[in-house]
Amino acid sequence: MLKRYLLAPGPTPVPPDVLLAMAAPIIHHRSADFLPVLDAAKKGLQWLYQTRNDVLILCSTGTGGMVGSVNNFFNKGDKVLVINGGKFGERWTKICQAYGLDVEEIVVEWGYAVKPSLVEEKLKKNRDIKGVFVQASETSTGVYHDIQALGSVVKQFDDTLFIVDAISALVAHDLKADAWAIDIMVGGSQKGVMLPPGLAFVSVSEKAWAKAETSTMPKFYFNFKKERENLAKNQTNFTSPVTLIIGLNESLKMLQAEGLEKVFRRHEWLANATRKAVQAIGLELYPRESPSNAVTAIMAPQGIDGQAVYKNLREKYGITAAGGQDKAKGKIFRIAHLGYADRFDVITAIAGIEMVLKGMGHPVKLGAGVAAAQELLMA
Ligand SMILES: Cc1ncc(COP(=O)(O)O)c(C=O)c1O
Repeated sequence: MLKRYLLAPGPTPVPPDVLLAMAAPIIHHRSADFLPVLDAAKKGLQWLYQTRNDVLILCSTGTGGMVGSVNNFFNKGDKVLVINGGKFGERWTKICQAYGLDVEEIVVEWGYAVKPSLVEEKLKKNRDIKGVFVQASETSTGVYHDIQALGSVVKQFDDTLFIVDAISALVAHDLKADAWAIDIMVGGSQKGVMLPPGLAFVSVSEKAWAKAETSTMPKFYFNFKKERENLAKNQTNFTSPVTLIIGLNESLKMLQAEGLEKVFRRHEWLANATRKAVQAIGLELYPRESPSNAVTAIMAPQGIDGQAVYKNLREKYGITAAGGQDKAKGKIFRIAHLGYADRFDVITAIAGIEMVLKGMGHPVKLGAGVAAAQELLMA
């Protein structure tokens, strides 16, 4: 038997209580049974997003939420600014271009975070930019962009929306949608929220709703105004993914019992222990600055293929982590500490990395990283 450990930056493990809640018989989404379920989910998401705005619940993966964030608020030809510091930044560009927007990019070298002053400069020079798109945690590089600082830049521009892909950052990082002037924030179920894939969440500010009034792009499945009207009645526009929403309420209950501050502190603690342990093994982190608390991207040592580390972790030891994407493929591997994650997930990952690297002929002192993690995780 090979026991499996899911330590990927999505999908992430689903807690037993959430799985059990989702085993309940199906209820009808237009019946009175469902109304309190959706009501609890929408209030719980507002708590998690730290917002008084609507948080729409969509039956799609996170990318569906990203698509809807483009086609509901903009018009063909609108100029927008995308911060492209990795695979998911690139995805914003591709979606915007697919809808005919005029995309300007700030290309950020992989492993670095965007400088908010650059964004400010761009916005001052290009008064016609209608939206700024960014990732909170760029999962492909393991970098966190400074959303608070970016929010305070974008909010100076009355005609510009601030759109944040928080799909991997939600729950791992403190993201204050209202206090930080985030107009649209996208989340997904299979990450920090500890659910199976299949839900996207999108918060929408009043500034963004005003823009939606003038957007003439085609909308059918992702029609946010219709979703908003339905949400007010504790409904969704189409058949609700009732099972996932029941699971969401259970996850939110777990997060609420822990408390937001403690949830963020746990992620920071696990991320920090992972980084320190990796360095104690003699490995380098891929981010040069601002590492994410959701996922740690680690440079494969000289002469070792990062994809082979990923493959060995999985095949020899049952640990599913992640490899690198695109230009980082082969150079890095990634370990998540996201959602239903605790001390022994870090210890497992670090022990596995040591064993894999030693098995591949890299000089590793077994236990060096584990001991570093243990020291920090006893605190
Ligand atoms: C930052 C980020 N954005 C977008 C996505 C895409 O989400 P999905 O695969 O749920 O569509 C992911 C998934 O890994 C992500 O990490």
